[in-house]
Amino acid sequence: MTKTIALLPGDGIGPEITAPTVELLNELGEFAFEEHLFGGVSIDAHGTALTDEVTAACQRADAVLLAAVGGPKWDTTDPTKPRPEQGLLGLRKALGLYANLRPVRPVPALYDASPLKREIIDGTNLLVVRELTGGLYFGDRGRKDGSAWDTMIYSVEEIERIVRTAFQATRTKLTSVDKANVLESSRLWREVVLRIHAEEFPQIELEHVLVDNAAMQLVSNPTSFEVIVTENMFGDILSDEAAMLTGSIGLLPSASLGGDGPGLFEPVHGSAPDIAGKGIANPLAMFLSAALLLRHGFAMEAEASAVESAVDRALADGLRTADLGGSATTAEAAQAVLTNL
Ligand code: NAD
Ligand code: IPM
Ligand code: MN
Repeated sequence: MTKTIALLPGDGIGPEITAPTVELLNELGEFAFEEHLFGGVSIDAHGTALTDEVTAACQRADAVLLAAVGGPKWDTTDPTKPRPEQGLLGLRKALGLYANLRPVRPVPALYDASPLKREIIDGTNLLVVRELTGGLYFGDRGRKDGSAWDTMIYSVEEIERIVRTAFQATRTKLTSVDKANVLESSRLWREVVLRIHAEEFPQIELEHVLVDNAAMQLVSNPTSFEVIVTENMFGDILSDEAAMLTGSIGLLPSASLGGDGPGLFEPVHGSAPDIAGKGIANPLAMFLSAALLLRHGFAMEAEASAVESAVDRALADGLRTADLGGSATTAEAAQAVLTNL
């Protein structure tokens, strides 16, 4: 039966990178695309970033493909006003997507596009497993009497399930990143990691690294990592940092999994308001997110690998969008990948 993909182009460069991705997917199979307003454009139309109809449509779909949301038009510090980002958090929660996989796979053709030295990057192939529906993003928050607070809260069950996901994705070594020298939630995190390791995955090497040290090691010794598992906000920050090992945030895809229903597939980058509308956004993170959709959402491994290989070949042939120091437009980049497919 034809698979349904709920398509959420969102804001900023979102629509520009979504259009060629639909073209790419149409080359690889028969999919029914159902496009919905999400994020800022949904606020403009409906006063909320995520309507109940769109939530229901995503729940019914076989997979959800999202580009990006947000932008200066909707930026506000007023807690009573809707924000595009609330839609994204609401959708992740509604779909139960607690496991966000962010593979960082620098390709040799782009070593010189990274601000880091070639010899530091060479051999890096890591996966960040970011907890996605807990921690500071979803804890109690508020404002009162001139103060504001956000709470980092984790239950044992929330830690167990993300840690299991990470161990299952590990061949030899798992790095758990926390701040157990300061935070109580990190001390619980570390206890659970140690127990799951001892009880279920003793054959895998485990190390604990404090988050500040992890940020440093990511740019000084990235080959020391295979799989990193960490809480929501640490994972958000570390994955943007890790993106620079590949040369650009415009290359990093992600898969959000763990619910009973469809997965959500989205680039790690945002709506890039500074370049929106210019036709120069790098579509490759979105293409690679489509590859993750094919692999994790539809078990279409051959097609997923075909996309990744086509991206690699296009880059090896010299494809460079502006973020990589080149002048290829979004359309030219898309064409280069399609040609190599
Ligand atoms: P951003 O990732 O949008 O942009 C950071 C920088 O990277 C900018 O200079 C941008 O031009 C560049 N960049 C990002 N993606 C690119 C691409 N595909 N090709 C070329 N260059 C690219 O981060 P930001 O500026 O901090 O955030 C902008 C908005 O996006 C905010 O509203 C933020 O909340 C939102 N955001 C959304 C998501 C999401 O929807 N998943 C993720 C991150 C940020
Ligand atoms: C990401 C983004 C989101 C996050 C924002 C837009 C809510 O930065 O997907 O990395 O922090 O999770
Ligand atoms: Mn982020």
